[in-house]
Amino acid sequence: MATTVMAGAVEGVDGVEVQVEVDLVRRLPRVTVVGLPASAVKESTERVRSAILASGLDFPKQRVTINLAPADVRKDGTAFDLPIALGVLAAAGVVPEDSLLGVMAVGELSLTGALRDVPGALPLALLARQRGVRALILPETCAGQGAVVPGLNVLSATNLSEVVDWLNGKDTLKKASFVAAPLPAHAGDLADVRGQALARRALEIAAAGGHNLLLIGAPGSGKTMLASRLPGLLPPMTFEEAIETTRVHSVAGLLPEKVGILEQRPFRSPHHSISPAGLLGGASLRPGELSLAHHGVLFLDELPEFSRGTLEQLRSPLERREVVIARSAGAVTLPASCMLVAAANPCECGFWGHPNKPCRCGDSALKRYRQRLSGPLLDRIDLCVRVDPVESEELFCDRRRESSAQVRTRVISARRAQTERYKALPIFNNAMLDGPACREAAQATPAGLRLLRDSMERLSLSARACDRVLKVARTIADLDGVARVDVEHVAEAAAFRAQDSVDAQAGL
Ligand SMILES: Nc1ncnc2c1ncn2[C@@H]1O[C@H](COP(=O)(O)OP(=O)(O)OP(=O)(O)O)[C@@H](O)[C@H]1O
Ligand SMILES: [Mg+2]
Repeated sequence: MATTVMAGAVEGVDGVEVQVEVDLVRRLPRVTVVGLPASAVKESTERVRSAILASGLDFPKQRVTINLAPADVRKDGTAFDLPIALGVLAAAGVVPEDSLLGVMAVGELSLTGALRDVPGALPLALLARQRGVRALILPETCAGQGAVVPGLNVLSATNLSEVVDWLNGKDTLKKASFVAAPLPAHAGDLADVRGQALARRALEIAAAGGHNLLLIGAPGSGKTMLASRLPGLLPPMTFEEAIETTRVHSVAGLLPEKVGILEQRPFRSPHHSISPAGLLGGASLRPGELSLAHHGVLFLDELPEFSRGTLEQLRSPLERREVVIARSAGAVTLPASCMLVAAANPCECGFWGHPNKPCRCGDSALKRYRQRLSGPLLDRIDLCVRVDPVESEELFCDRRRESSAQVRTRVISARRAQTERYKALPIFNNAMLDGPACREAAQATPAGLRLLRDSMERLSLSARACDRVLKVARTIADLDGVARVDVEHVAEAAAFRAQDSVDAQAGL
């Protein structure tokens, strides 16, 4: 009769249960793996054989058949090494078969029998909890990810011998513990930014409502500096958000050793040469930058330098807040709910609209530059702000400016109002509102509505752009702590919109 060990595979960012069945038959020694294994899994048998021998145990001199069930799930990666090794040893009577009941095991084996970490330990741990296992065995280096899951018994091991001894009741395995990811050392404070009152306000509104933001300005005006201050303004992640974000990073194999959970919202800033697969995720299963920014910020610096084809592909995932990747074995959906923040120069030379420097671009150069940006992508930007170079007086003035922590306090209270308002809906912030829900949430006063209609006509806004103005107005009202959107909120929101329509006509 075959021996069975519980293991798991990762699909998208979810764990899927896989049973490893091992059967020994007294025939010529040979090892066969069946059940849709990818090449890394087929190679597993060689690693397992060496690891068992290096641990001082015998590899059975019989025909070994390994079946990975269910057969329709594609098994990739090296996480099956440990369960295969345990299945072989149980079938050979080296460990008691009962000891594997209710145990899930995951890990890569080196030729010496040492356990190495595998991507996706967190989704596999969530699967283990759902299946009610009595123990999940993980390699020590990624066991912390499992320890994050409440109510799950996670045991960490450094090599195969330790696991065999534990199953034989000879020794105990260490209970896993975790550390939180350290805060990024480079994160600067908003107090370092001189002047730029309008851009600071736009950052605050964007952080408070989770809105997409575009910063346009001359070289050296501080766009990158401002955008990099955004993580310090965002509210802390809830435990559920942290789990969802960590899950994506876990599958991508990006969590540092022993780190169990990410506490900071991610800030992803890919280079403009990135491919569509790098940005959105590809057939290789690795999540793209958009998914790695889940619950955080995707910052596209030098937006016009990105290939237009790559940017076009962002449109639908940004709206749906998820990416669907078609693969031969079926479509995989990855989460992608993030803020898009972009920075651009207003034209090729960078000085269009500059207060003191003339722009050297001709009309056709301006037009070409404009065409590099996708109009429909710009329509998905809620706030657009022009960042003019800071005046020398401002730059050398020693006046204390508001710090990130002070702004963050207001952001957190505005977000609290949104959480309360949307508690019955699958929405966390104003940016996630769609048309009808947006009008309902705004509770606009008659004067506020009148101004919105006037702005729509004056700025020739599309219906989507009009909804975006209303969403931003809702956030401004939340920062003010008032229940109804009024004239001043609509006026400020429309001013941030007007920036890009003016720019669209002339320069950018
Ligand atoms: N408002 C400001 N307050 C303080 N320092 C500033 C300000 N603006 C710019 N700087 C200084 O100038 C440097 C360059 O700014 P930054 O890289 O953000 O410009 P940029 O607008 O992104 O330029 P580019 O268009 O070339 O990418 C910053 O690192 C900072 O030292
Ligand atoms: Mg820059």
